[in-house]
Amino acid sequence: MGRRYLVVGAGGREHALAWKLAQGADVESVWVAPGNAGIAADPDITGCLDIAVGDFSALEAFAKENDVTLTVVGPEAPLVDGIVDHFQSAGLAIFGPSAAAAQLEASKAFSKEVMRKAEVPTANFAVFDDEADAIAHIEMARHPLVIKADGLAGGKGVVISQSVDESRETLQSFMAGAKFGESSKTVLIEDFLEGPELSFIVVTDGENVVPLATSRDHKRVGEGDTGPNTGGMGAITPSPNDSLDLQTEIVEMVIRPVLRQMKQRGAPFSGFLYAGLMLTQDGPYVLEFNVRMGDPETQPLLFALNADFGALLESCVAGTLKDGRLSESDAACAIVLASAGYPATPQKGFVIEGLDTDFGPHTKVFHAGTTRDDSGAFINNGGRVLAVTARGASPADARERAYEAAQHIHWEGMHFRRDIGV
Ligand code: AMP
Ligand code: GLY
Repeated sequence: MGRRYLVVGAGGREHALAWKLAQGADVESVWVAPGNAGIAADPDITGCLDIAVGDFSALEAFAKENDVTLTVVGPEAPLVDGIVDHFQSAGLAIFGPSAAAAQLEASKAFSKEVMRKAEVPTANFAVFDDEADAIAHIEMARHPLVIKADGLAGGKGVVISQSVDESRETLQSFMAGAKFGESSKTVLIEDFLEGPELSFIVVTDGENVVPLATSRDHKRVGEGDTGPNTGGMGAITPSPNDSLDLQTEIVEMVIRPVLRQMKQRGAPFSGFLYAGLMLTQDGPYVLEFNVRMGDPETQPLLFALNADFGALLESCVAGTLKDGRLSESDAACAIVLASAGYPATPQKGFVIEGLDTDFGPHTKVFHAGTTRDDSGAFINNGGRVLAVTARGASPADARERAYEAAQHIHWEGMHFRRDIGV
């Protein structure tokens, strides 16, 4: 019997995960739960399942009945809610951290505490659960400063505030207004850092570390890094700031100390560990950890990866992962095509044109938020809708190819940044 994979999630990241898993040796089936219309239409992917990411019992039953070799989890929410613990106690192979280890992303206060103990460079910070105390703090603090919701907020819980008034308003909406529910009742206030950002993602079993290529995400909605933060408007790999020395520095100064610290706390970390870094004049500083792959970083990273990804993840779960490097990846670039109104209020329900274009072997359109109407036409059904992804010998080649392909796609109100990867 060939290998059978189950991917949990519904976005562009999960499309890329499933597509890449399907390219592996001896792969028989790749299912995605719940996936989306674009994933279901991908000829390399077996199909989508009508099971929600939070329905662990139904996912477990499917994995058992269909002899799934490995389940791979895309988003953070099921990890934080204990899907890995659930599968492991049912004797099923699953790739990702336990609920305890996923706190590294679920609570920014926890993550900061781990970094402090592990002596990992990160911005100075204070944690507040009382609004009056938080306001007293910002009235005295130098601006700009950064206000973050403690819990999960879909990449939107961070505000870079330029003034005392803006900080006060943000704190009111986060804390009293519960803008992100329980997630924003506790806030972190931290120093503003400057420098280029770098996404650094590794596969780890808690001890051994295999880095994926570096990448650069663009979080602001507008060109020139203007407007509100989003989940990410596009990404390029390798990062323009990449070097082997930098990668080694991050593994030794950030990743390994955090893994040691998590083990000491009785919550050893295995899965994808994603460090969001800022390359300051004083060296790399960690902005945050994620306990999963990035979206949209996954799309270019996996499209450009020259390795059997499923075999890598399986070796991690089987306890045979070895410290080391993967063979060199190509360069790749992903441009996110977003709906009008994203990130605040995406306008959905328009027919997407141009998806039947022949983009050639070096380009792939990953679907994040699409559905189909009665006639079978693809309709935009979310904020981030498509990630037009292309690979090439250099980042410039990949970029040019991705932008060329994006020109063929259109729906009413669609927008994208024209400066991804520069
Ligand atoms: P986070 O979710 O913590 O990665 O924050 C989202 C985005 O906010 C980051 O990708 C940065 O662009 C920005 N950001 C977060 N923390 C800081 C900081 N201390 N200084 C400057 N920008 C930051
Ligand atoms: N693109 C940023 C993230 O996935 O968190």
